Amino acid sequence: MNPSGVKISAVGHYAPPRIVTNADFERWLDTSDEWITSRTGMQRRHWVDEKTLTSDLAYEAAKRALEKAGLEAADIDCYVVATATPDYLFPATACILAARLGAQDKPAFDIEIACSGFIYGLTLASSLVRSGVHRRVMLVGAETLSKLINHEDRSTAILFGDGAGAVILEASEEDSFLSAELGADGSNPTMLYAGIESERFIHMNGREVFKFAVNKMVKATDVALEKAHLQKSDIDFLIPHQANKRIIDAAAKYLEVPPEKVVINIQEYGNTSAASIPMALAEALDAGTIKPGHIIVFVGFGGGLSWGAVAWRWAA
Ligand code: ACO
Repeated sequence: MNPSGVKISAVGHYAPPRIVTNADFERWLDTSDEWITSRTGMQRRHWVDEKTLTSDLAYEAAKRALEKAGLEAADIDCYVVATATPDYLFPATACILAARLGAQDKPAFDIEIACSGFIYGLTLASSLVRSGVHRRVMLVGAETLSKLINHEDRSTAILFGDGAGAVILEASEEDSFLSAELGADGSNPTMLYAGIESERFIHMNGREVFKFAVNKMVKATDVALEKAHLQKSDIDFLIPHQANKRIIDAAAKYLEVPPEKVVINIQEYGNTSAASIPMALAEALDAGTIKPGHIIVFVGFGGGLSWGAVAWRWAA
């Protein structure tokens, strides 16, 4: 056997237990459950306590993925964490994760491209497996965005949640990876950013990001489909970054993907940045809707500005 393909062999996810509802925000912000639900589709989000770090969430999700795969941490050849909220500026959160899981001396590194982190990570980790560099790669999207929220700013405070989703990518004769389309445009970085020191909170131009998001998600999906010689009608599931239900609905409409084929769990978690796509994938798998042979398009966008789509054939 000479596997030059890749498949996702297991997925795990985790969100911290503390739930913040829309009604909770009404206590300190001029907002309402009705406004938040109708403008974003969000109803709850999970927030960490002060002591919990991104690596703690990544650990829980990774542990669940290992359990589902029946693997030990040492069976994974490389650890990658996609996060915009690392435990430290350095070392990489992936190093902390691998050590905590009990993997010794394995390569581990982070990628930071905000909410596009999982899409970029999936492309990179798949390449590591398909090229034969590693047989198994653990990719985790993990975030503690609640720590970057300005709780007095109603236009951003309501949007973000914490969580983690982990996938194990494994060499396979059948190839799940069909194509990727990635992009970035750093000419206007402050459209969506979190700085350092006094500017460390999330800032964004919501209306502009909204337009950009719909446009780029549609274009990236179109190009990824074209590269894979697929049509829009071939999509069995669209698993988008969960930033705003109206963004997802608009993109799905342009892509002619009916609502039953769009995976949405934003009502429970809000925007968890690089964690949102693997968390949505995990819940779709748990619901039993994704079957071998299904064509999935993972699509996202985020700070950078950045965007990307990956076309994927689900394998047994
Ligand atoms: N409650 C009540 N009113 C609010 C709230 C709130 N929580 N937030 C904003 N408003 C008000 C505004 O002040 C504004 O009032 P005004 O007309 O008196 O000025 C009004 O609602 C409309 O504001 P808009 O910004 O036009 O509202 P919009 O419908 O665009 O929704 C939102 C705002 C939800 C932020 C939307 O623009 C959006 O989702 N944008 C994209 C966000 C996104 O995807 N970010 C990605 C981050 S990912 C990453 O990389 C970290």
